[in-house]
Parts: sequence; structure tokens; C-alpha cells
Amino acid sequence: MKSHPNHSINNLHKISVAPMMDCTDKHFRMIIRKISSKALLYTEMIVVQSLIYTDKKEKFLNFNKEEHPLSIQFGGDNPQMLKEAAKMAQDWGYDEINFNVGCPSPRVCSGNFGASLMKEPSKVAKCIESLKNNCSLPVTIKHRIGVDEEDSFDKLNSFVREVANAGADRFTVHARKAILKGLNPKQNRTIPQLRYDVVQKLKETNPQLLIEINGGFTNIAQCIKALNELDGVMVGRSAYKYPLRWSNIDQEIYGENTTSKCASGIILSLIPYIENHLEKGGKTWDICKHLINLVEGIPNAKIWRNYITSRSIKQELSIDYLIKVTSELQKMGY
Ligand SMILES: Cc1cc2nc3c(=O)[nH]c(=O)nc-3n(C[C@H](O)[C@H](O)[C@H](O)COP(=O)(O)O)c2cc1C
Repeated sequence: MKSHPNHSINNLHKISVAPMMDCTDKHFRMIIRKISSKALLYTEMIVVQSLIYTDKKEKFLNFNKEEHPLSIQFGGDNPQMLKEAAKMAQDWGYDEINFNVGCPSPRVCSGNFGASLMKEPSKVAKCIESLKNNCSLPVTIKHRIGVDEEDSFDKLNSFVREVANAGADRFTVHARKAILKGLNPKQNRTIPQLRYDVVQKLKETNPQLLIEINGGFTNIAQCIKALNELDGVMVGRSAYKYPLRWSNIDQEIYGENTTSKCASGIILSLIPYIENHLEKGGKTWDICKHLINLVEGIPNAKIWRNYITSRSIKQELSIDYLIKVTSELQKMGY
């Protein structure tokens, strides 16, 4: 099996925020970047076919320079298209490419990519090879511990080894199998049992591979515990719904000597970004739909959220008003 010449990018990213469609857009990533300067961020999944055939590539590819380190996630199964996509990712300045073999959406699987590809390791290996051969970025893969009846440890292990031989630089393993018939994507994130033991065994069996665990992490202490045995932890829903729970990542995971962040501080620091977005014709809701999660857990959060949401949706939220209500939060110490 190949060893990895360059672990530097991977070693930095002990914690990452999972790719999530309709959640981890560039605005949300800016919010998370205010919380952690280190965590690896991912784009939402980009279907390579859509990327290749659109003449609005910037809609898929643009990001803010503050978002680094940033991994772009591709879904697809055509090595030729992945070749083009790899070149674009490099030209656009992404730090890493991630290949999605974990999405159980029927729409995605009917195109024969996402989780169903786990049943075709050789095809996945060709896809990884194509990405690797056409850029100099690290190429990583996100997958499940199994799919449908193909859920033995041996199957998982040989899948990972074949893909490692094709050059994959890191494996993000969602510690659940995917059930393609009978469960929708949401159910596939809750009903199949979480099996951290399987991911740990995968690392024990392949100590030379970089293996990151994903699924069900809700606080920093759990991540620190997992990092004793694994190379990284990817956090999805909890980072989206409760971003402030993760505000000490840089101190507690990376040992940085930075001050704690609070909701009002983060929102106020984003004001120039929001103004810039509005100047370019964007809407406040594009950003505020993510910002409202920052007040989760704060007393009277509901009132603050309602103020922001109702005005923002009606496009009546002014920057002055946002500053005013956020300063109220600040006065209360949040
Ligand atoms: C709304 C939503 C959208 C998602 N979209 C993607 C996606 O685009 N690509 C992907 O690999 N996983 C996607 N996922 C799965 C997450 O990346 C992650 O694997 C899953 O939520 C389990 O992690 P968690 O328990 O920390 O949330 C999505 C999850 C959610 C909740």
C-alpha cells in the first residue's frame, strides 16, 4: 500500500465541519471561520456533471479567501469529468478535493454515485486516480462503513485498501452503513446504528492510513477522546445547529492561545462581509439564515431570532438594525 508523502495538510485538520447540502455554503463557512481559524471546511457536494456543463462555474466554485483551509467535495463516477473538475479545483485555489461515496440520496444513487459506489471499489479507485493524476492537491474520500447487505468489516477494509492504493490521502468514515432501499437520506443519518468500533478497527488494521471519524459528535470533549485513536473528527449537524458549542476548538484541539468568541462578537465582525454581500446585490437572508443559529442557547434567543428572521425574509433588515439588536446581546454578555 502507498504511504503518504505529505501529511502536513491533514495533520492540521484534526477537526472538520462536514459538507452539508443547503447548509455549508460560503456564508456559513465564513461564520465558522470566525469561530475557528484552523478547522478544515468543506463545500456542499458539487455534482461534477453539473459543474462541467454549466457556463456559470463561479456559482459553484467561488469562495472567500478567508475560508482556507477549504476542501471541495465532488460527487460523480466519470473519471474523465473528474479530471476536468480536479483541474478546476486547483485553478480556483482549493486546498483539497474530497470525493463523496457516502451520500444515500436516491437522486444521487440513481446517477450511480454517492454511497452506491461503495459496491464498486474499482470504479472508485479509477475516480480517485483521475483526481490525483490531474492536480497536485490532496485527494480524500468520504464514505460509509458499508452499504445494504455489503456491510462486513472485510468488505470495508478491502474497499479502503483498494482506494488507498489508488492514492487517496485521507478517509473520512461516517460510522454508519447506508441503507439504500427503504430509508431516505435523513433516516440514513439516524436509523443505521453508529459503529465507532468499526472505524477504530479500520484504523488499527491500517495504522499507516489517515482515518477521520464522522457521525454523532456533539461536543469538543467527545472529539478529544476520539482523537486519541483516530486522525480526525468531522462534525456535521451539531456544528450547523449549535456553532457556538465549538467556539473553543482552536484552544482545546489545536492549543492556540486565542480568546473565546461570543455570538455578538462574531456577528459584529461579520458586518463588513454582510455589507459587501448586499452591495453586490445579495440578500441579508442568505447570511442571516445561518447567523440565527449562533444565538442557540442564549436566553431570549427566540425573540432575537424572530426579529432577524421576519425582517430579513421581507428584505427589511437594515445593517443598523442588525447592529442595534446585536449590541443588546453584547450588553447581556453574549
Ligand atoms: C442537511 C445535510 C446535508 C448533507 N449534505 C452532505 C453532502 O453534501 N455531502 C456529504 O458527504 N455529506 C452530506 N451530509 C452528511 C454529513 O456530511 C455527515 O456525514 C452526517 O450529517 C453525519 O455527521 P453528523 O452526525 O456530525 O451530522 C449532509 C448532512 C445533512 C444533515
